[in-house]
Amino acid sequence: MATTDTRALALDATSAADLEASGLEYALVPADHEGFEPFLRAVSRGFLGEDPSADEVESARRALTPRRLTGVFDRSGVAPESPVATVDSWATELTVSPGRTIPLWSISAVTVAPTHRRRGIARAMLTGELRTAAAAGFPLAGLTVTEATIYGRWGFSPAAWASDVVVDTRRARWTGPVAPGRLDFVSRESLPERLSRVHERVRLERPGSVPGWEGRWRGVAGLTPDAKDGNKVRAVSYRDAAGEERGILVYTLDPGPNDDYSAHVLSVRALFADGDEAAAALWRFAIEHDLVGEVKASLQPAVPPVQWMVADRRAVTATLTDHHWLRILDVPAALSARRYARALDVVLRVEDPLGFADGAWSLRVDADGVAEVDAAPESRDVDVELSVGALSSLLLGGARARELAAAGLVRGSAQALAALDAAFVPDVAPLLDIWY
Ligand SMILES: CC(C)(COP(=O)(O)OP(=O)(O)OC[C@H]1O[C@@H](n2cnc3c(N)ncnc32)[C@H](O)[C@@H]1OP(=O)(O)O)[C@@H](O)C(=O)NCCC(=O)NCCS
Repeated sequence: MATTDTRALALDATSAADLEASGLEYALVPADHEGFEPFLRAVSRGFLGEDPSADEVESARRALTPRRLTGVFDRSGVAPESPVATVDSWATELTVSPGRTIPLWSISAVTVAPTHRRRGIARAMLTGELRTAAAAGFPLAGLTVTEATIYGRWGFSPAAWASDVVVDTRRARWTGPVAPGRLDFVSRESLPERLSRVHERVRLERPGSVPGWEGRWRGVAGLTPDAKDGNKVRAVSYRDAAGEERGILVYTLDPGPNDDYSAHVLSVRALFADGDEAAAALWRFAIEHDLVGEVKASLQPAVPPVQWMVADRRAVTATLTDHHWLRILDVPAALSARRYARALDVVLRVEDPLGFADGAWSLRVDADGVAEVDAAPESRDVDVELSVGALSSLLLGGARARELAAAGLVRGSAQALAALDAAFVPDVAPLLDIWY
């Protein structure tokens, strides 16, 4: 697991100078400092939320203490201690192939006050994050997005997709496997530890995943002060025949349309399953729950396996969204971290206006799927040309080179693109199962 303390890294001098030229100050905001409360208020305002209560501030302070919080301040305004823009970042790791991870610079809480929008503040913050991450040796940066229109300009691009799944339980009828283990209700208080333990095993096998953290699990469990429906949270644990906990389902129940008591909506807050058996057991529990007409679950695999476990597959609808956006900063480190399905020998010409990934790169994969990546000698012809965003989308194998080529985002011969796709096809489809 990456151990860099991102709070100790200096602020990016270029962004500091750019902001200063606009009369703005770029500053770190330690979570244990009095500046934390205005920082949190600014984040909440940016995401159209309510002002946090004193309890919420303290809970968020605990959760965000390990993070690097950066604010932009307009000291000439009427509230000079309140940031007009915010960002937070931390070191984590991304699973790139089952069992293989790479350090990731995670970015969150990007906001700019509506009073200060469209003056280049987000640009200064995002490019500052990328320069700081690259200088600290991070091969990749990542984020989850509210809008798909913002981050592409800085080289971020979707690399893992997730589905919002809705199951009409009246039509579904379970035909999937019947798991041999057992289900038990477990307390909300026990959930952070249970979720963390099961998720740690799951995320290491799933490309596109990152670890969760205590505050995230407390939120799923409805234990944080801002949890409006905490008392409604229920959870069941699946233990296999040997007694080992393999899965957790956390959910709430709400009345269905027209207050039909027999058709409640079961909303999944988390369904983490270490193995097919646990997944089948928990999905069956949700679908067969009495007095439930609909099961809703977000952040599910792009093609949800539950479609194959019910009599009427059209009882399951899945709406796909781009979810995990990645940005390669170091091409050799990023491409050599994962394992490939086939041998490959290509030269990729990567265009990166910010410079980090720019260049011609030789990618050679041996018969065991192990890659070596180096700057390509000038004597080698380029096989494939693409932007850093397109390469970031290909990295985990969630997008195909031929699809991106059809959209004009990748250029190369049909043969080179087919070879790329054959090598990049993943063992397990990429998925990010949390927001960050
Ligand atoms: C999104 C947000 C951070 C942008 O901040 P900003 O300081 O206005 O952005 P900048 O002035 O640096 O703009 C940089 C570029 O992004 C573009 N841009 C900014 N916000 C955009 C949006 N919502 N949709 C499309 N493009 C956007 C700008 O037009 C500009 O384009 P250019 O590079 O072609 O000139 C800000 O509007 C905000 O806080 N929104 C609410 C919270 C939010 O959605 N945060 C994102 C979390 S994932």
